[in-house]
Amino acid sequence: MPKGKVTKAIFPVAGLGTRFLPATKAIPKETLTLVDRPLIQYAVDEALASGIEQLIFITARGKTNLEDYFDRSPELERTLALAGKKDLLRIVENCTLDSGAVTYVRQNQALGLGHAIACARHLIQDEPFAVILPDDVISASTPCLQQMIAVHANTGGSVIAAMEVPPAQSGAYGILDVAGVAGRVAQVRAIVEKPRPEQAPSNLAVIGRYILDPSIFDHLAGLQASAGGEIQLTDAIAGLVAAGSPVHAYRFKGDRFDCGSKAGFLQATVSFALARSELREEFGAYLNSMVALQNAAQ
Ligand code: UTP
Repeated sequence: MPKGKVTKAIFPVAGLGTRFLPATKAIPKETLTLVDRPLIQYAVDEALASGIEQLIFITARGKTNLEDYFDRSPELERTLALAGKKDLLRIVENCTLDSGAVTYVRQNQALGLGHAIACARHLIQDEPFAVILPDDVISASTPCLQQMIAVHANTGGSVIAAMEVPPAQSGAYGILDVAGVAGRVAQVRAIVEKPRPEQAPSNLAVIGRYILDPSIFDHLAGLQASAGGEIQLTDAIAGLVAAGSPVHAYRFKGDRFDCGSKAGFLQATVSFALARSELREEFGAYLNSMVALQNAAQ
């Protein structure tokens, strides 16, 4: 089976981000700031560090500041250069993406993640491709997507990032039924979107990183809205499995933060701030004082 090199990544950023209203009325969720960088920058950094060459953003009305963020900023760059602020200039320049490496596709209605991916069909030839959901931020010594690409080089087919979750949380995830577990890799037998705990086939949940076989587009094409009234990527992956196309789950090494939820975003903020040498001491001392206050109040 041809395995194919993974050189393209799709970043779906066209959702409405309703869990962060009112902020997301005017600010794309994917540009909300984790310490000092927008969520989407973490996703792009992971892709580039994993060898991705072409970045495809599925965007929407009201998200143009995300496009501007990755573009040159001549006035700002000139001002920083004139002021001799070389470090800041480098930071600004480093988030500019090469024009030839980026494509923006508009999803004109937020019909769901599956529909968002289907919008990029014309940009993917007969090759496997990656999908990164920017609201799943993963801190790992080897980038999660890079780990998955290494697995894909052995397995071919499709590879889905997975992690164990408490059974009570199964209703928030796509849950996998797996067989043939070998270390961190297992064959997927079935996938169910947001099952109730008693109906979940396992505690292995799908996380927002995928390497997909291009035949997924045939399965996406015929889909109707399902769970939550949205066209679900999960249903197309179930179609791949049913058609006998190999799909593997990979339990990645790293810490995942659900930055699509407020609690997860705050946890990520604390964790990423404490990982920064210039913030650790001051911020750590503040957190300790908060904990001491809380304990004293109990
Ligand atoms: P989410 O379901 O987490 O994002 O989709 P959402 O719908 O924007 O957020 P809530 O639930 O209303 O708060 C995961 C990713 O898929 C994108 C989102 O932008 C997010 O990055 N997405 C979702 C699309 O691009 N299009 C869609 O139709 C739906």
